[in-house]
Amino acid sequence: MLDKIKALQQEISAIEATSAEQAEELRIKYLSKKGLIGQLFNEFKNVPADQKKAMGAAINELKDFAQEKINSLKESFNQKQSGLQGVDPSLPGYVFAVGSRHPLAVVRNHIVEIFARLGFIVSEGPEIEDDWHVFSALNFPPEHPARDMQDTFFIEKDPDVLLRTHTSSVQVRVMEKTQPPIRAIFPGRVFRNEAISARAHCIFHQIECLYVDENVSFADLKQTLLYFAREFFGEKTEIRLRPSYFPFTEPSAEMDVSCSICGGKGCNVCKYTGWLEIMGCGMVDPNVLELCGIDNEKYTGFAFGMGIERIAMLKYGVKDLRLFFENDVRFLNQFHSAY
Ligand code: DAH
Repeated sequence: MLDKIKALQQEISAIEATSAEQAEELRIKYLSKKGLIGQLFNEFKNVPADQKKAMGAAINELKDFAQEKINSLKESFNQKQSGLQGVDPSLPGYVFAVGSRHPLAVVRNHIVEIFARLGFIVSEGPEIEDDWHVFSALNFPPEHPARDMQDTFFIEKDPDVLLRTHTSSVQVRVMEKTQPPIRAIFPGRVFRNEAISARAHCIFHQIECLYVDENVSFADLKQTLLYFAREFFGEKTEIRLRPSYFPFTEPSAEMDVSCSICGGKGCNVCKYTGWLEIMGCGMVDPNVLELCGIDNEKYTGFAFGMGIERIAMLKYGVKDLRLFFENDVRFLNQFHSAY
C-alpha cells in the first residue's frame, strides 16, 4: 500500500490542467469518494493493526497534498478569468496624465465666449483661398505689397490660389452669402511668408469680427471693444484708438489696451508706454459692402481683427512666440483654464 501512496504522490505532483474543467476532472479522479485516494481509504480496513497509524497518516498527507495541488490549479484559472494574473493589487494606482488645452485654444475660446454673449456667432472659411476673398473684395489695390510673393504664400505658382494672410477673407465669404443683420466672429489660422523669430511666425492665428446692420456706428465699435477689453483683460482696463489705415475699413484705427502687466504705469512689456497694441479695426469700407453684394446706402458695419498669439503672449507673459508651436509638454502643462 505504501508503494501505491508513493506512486500516487508522484503522479499528482506531475499533474497539469489547461482549464478549470480539467482541474475539476482531476479532483473527481483523485479526491471523490470513488476516486483513487478514496479507494485507499476503502482498502485501509485491510491494513494490519500495527501499521494502521502510519498508513492512516500517509493517506491523509496524500489527500491534503492532492487537495492543495488541485485547489492551486483551480485558483490560477479563476485569476486568469478575472484578469488578475500578474497583477499586484497592492501596488499604488497609475497616475494618468490629464491633457490640458493649448493656450491658443484657451484664448480663442475665451474670446469667442465673450462675443457669443453679445450675440456673435462663429463662422469659418477655407485656409486655401483665392485673390478675390483675401484681397480684391477687401479693396486692396492691385499694386498692394501683400499681393507680392514676399508676403503671401502662393500655391503652384498660380496667383489665384494662395494661403490666406488674414481671416478678413471670411468677412467676404459671409457677406456674399448673408444679408444683414450680420453679427459674426471668425477664428482661424493664417499664413505669411515671414522669417520665424520670437515675435513672428509663418503660421499664426487670428480672430476677425464683423457686424453689419442699419445704423451701426463708430460708437458701437468703440463700446463693443471696451466691453471686450474689460471682460478679457480685467475691469480696470482702458482702451484707446489711434487712427490707422486698412484698405477694407474707413475710417480705420488700431486699438491699444492699458498694459495689464503694470496697470498702465509703464514696464518693459509695454515699453514704458503703459499701452499695448492688440488689434486693427474700423468701419467696413462702403466699397467692400458693395463688392460683397450689400446695399451700402442702407447698411453700415464695423470690423476688427486680432492675432491670437499676441493676446496669449500678453495674457500669459510668454516672451517667445515659437513656444506655441513646439508642443513641449513642459510648456503646455502650465495652462489650465475653464475655456
Ligand atoms: N486683417 C488685418 C491684419 O491681418 C487685421 C484687421 C484690421 C482686421 C482692421 C479688421 C480690421 O477687420 O477692421 O492685419
